[in-house]
Amino acid sequence: MSPFRITRILPEDATDAALRADVLAGLTATPRTLPPKWFYDARGSELFEQITRLPEYYPTRAEREILSERAGEIAAAAGARTLVELGSGSSEKTRHLLDAMTSLRAYVPVDVSESALVGAGEALAAERADLQVHALIADFTAALELPGTPGPRLVAFLGGTVGNLLPDERAAFLASVRSMLEPGDTLLLGTDLVKDEEVLVRAYDDASGVTAAFDKNVLAVINRELGADFDPEAFEHVAVWDAGREWIEMRLRSRTAQTVKVQALDLVVEFAAGEEIRTEVSAKFRAERVRAELAAAGLEPVRWWTDAGGRFALSLSTPG
Ligand SMILES: C[S@@+](CC[C@H](N)C(=O)[O-])C[C@H]1O[C@@H](n2cnc3c(N)ncnc32)[C@H](O)[C@@H]1O
Repeated sequence: MSPFRITRILPEDATDAALRADVLAGLTATPRTLPPKWFYDARGSELFEQITRLPEYYPTRAEREILSERAGEIAAAAGARTLVELGSGSSEKTRHLLDAMTSLRAYVPVDVSESALVGAGEALAAERADLQVHALIADFTAALELPGTPGPRLVAFLGGTVGNLLPDERAAFLASVRSMLEPGDTLLLGTDLVKDEEVLVRAYDDASGVTAAFDKNVLAVINRELGADFDPEAFEHVAVWDAGREWIEMRLRSRTAQTVKVQALDLVVEFAAGEEIRTEVSAKFRAERVRAELAAAGLEPVRWWTDAGGRFALSLSTPG
């Protein structure tokens, strides 16, 4: 068994302060919003894993198809000795890369979910005696100080998670990733592609209600952490395609007029019947937009792969 290290970059109280600030800003804004990173406590991470196995949720299968077929090409093009993975979750699809990267010495998964990092990191360390696994509990939108593992590095950001950032957040995020890269390092970015509205909406509003439970989990997190009295059943999960902005929005719609108290913030929120909280944006991309956004951040895409159905893309970029 190789050593497994986990470092908390986010202090507990910083998480608490950030949650307070996000909930206060989001619930007093018009329209109301909550950032998606607060879905992922242990239950949220487990619900997300269930989502990845739903028949309607094609992105995981499409990205896994690309990785299983192209991992050798990706590994050869990157030639990396360290794999850094942002928003790594269960690291399940990543195994295709880990197996193909013959010169790999270190794996650095980065996530806000401690339970996901511990589960994935311990399993990998037990299986891969040759691999140094150093997990970081960190927010990937903040400046990241990476452990001193051997270069070159491949930074992977899979799952289409980049689409959960709003356009200005995405630009800042890509610029900060660019600033982490040294000559010889590469970025592997997973982007979900624009497709038929019905397919998209079903992927975010499945028949068995797992995505609805995932969406409502953010209310349970706020109840537990900030002493709020949200009744998750008093909200309905909805997924809407915004054709102009080419993104899916997940929302929680108040079923009735109701009052919610958030004790730790001394906040009272009045919801009208039908009023919504936007809980996640999931942008869908066209190849030109991915190229333009990478270029604006000083990144040059050198390879582009899609699954056979053209549903999802992986791009490999170098610092331009
Ligand atoms: C959509 S899931 C994708 C998980 C995995 N990469 C996959 O492809 O299945 C997003 C992951 O990013 C993590 N995450 C979300 N926002 C984050 C943030 N701001 N900083 C670090 N991790 C974050 C979540 O905990 C979750 O594991």
